[in-house]
Amino acid sequence: MSMRGRARATPSISLPIETPRLIMRDFRKGDFEAVHAYSSLEEVARYLIWGPNTPAQSKEAIEGFLDDQRMRPRSIFDLAVTLKPKREVIGGAGLRIIDRDNLTGEIGYTLHPDFWGYGLATEASRALLDAGFNELGLQRIVAVCDQRNKASARVMERLGMRREGVFRGSKLIQNGWRDEYLYAILAEEFG
Ligand SMILES: CC(C)(COP(=O)(O)OP(=O)(O)OC[C@H]1O[C@@H](n2cnc3c(N)ncnc32)[C@H](O)[C@@H]1OP(=O)(O)O)[C@@H](O)C(=O)NCCC(=O)NCCS
Repeated sequence: MSMRGRARATPSISLPIETPRLIMRDFRKGDFEAVHAYSSLEEVARYLIWGPNTPAQSKEAIEGFLDDQRMRPRSIFDLAVTLKPKREVIGGAGLRIIDRDNLTGEIGYTLHPDFWGYGLATEASRALLDAGFNELGLQRIVAVCDQRNKASARVMERLGMRREGVFRGSKLIQNGWRDEYLYAILAEEFG
C-alpha cells in the first residue's frame, strides 16, 4: 500500500452547515460586495483588531479565505453566514484549529448590523461548536472578545462558554491597547 493510501483520514467539516435560519458555506470571490458592506463599517470594527476595511482590505480578506480553503489538512473554516430563504450573505463566522496536539479550536463571528439582535450570531456559533466537537473531534473551543464588547460576551455565555480569564492590554484594537476576555467550552460541557 502506498504512503498516500495509508495516510489517516483527517477529520473535516461537511459544508454547507444548515441551521433553522441559516446556511453557512465557504466564501466565494463573488461575495466581495456583501463582505465589504459589513467589513467597512465603523460600528462593526469598534471592538475588532481589523477594519473598518478599505475595498482593497476586503478583497484581501476574501483571497485569504480562499487560500485557507485550499489548505490540507484544513484548519481554518471561515464561513459566509447566509440567511434563508434568499441566502444573502449577512456576515461571517469562523472556526479554526489553533492547537492540533491539544485538539483546541477558536470561534469568531461578525454580522451586518441590520441583522444584530435576532440571535443569529448565537445560532451560527452553536453550529460551529457542534461541528468542532462532533466532526473535528475537538476537546476544547475558545473565543476571545474585547472586554467592552457586551454583545459578543453575551453570545459566548448563551453558548454555554465559561469566562476563564482576562488578558490585560493584550490586543491593539482600533488604536488602543485593550483588555480581552477568554471564554471556553469543553466537549463534555457541550449539550
Ligand atoms: C457580536 C455580534 C456578532 C452579535 O450578533 P447578534 O446576532 O446580534 O447576537 P445575538 O442576537 O445572538 O446575541 C446578542 C446578545 O447580546 C445582547 N446585546 C446586544 N447588544 C448589546 C449591548 N450593546 N450591550 C449588552 N448586551 C447586548 C443581546 O441582548 C443578546 O443577548 P440576550 O439574547 O441575552 O438578550 C454582533 O454584534 C457583531 O457583529 N458585532 C460586530 C463584530 C464583533 O464584535 N464580533 C465579535 C468579535 S469578538
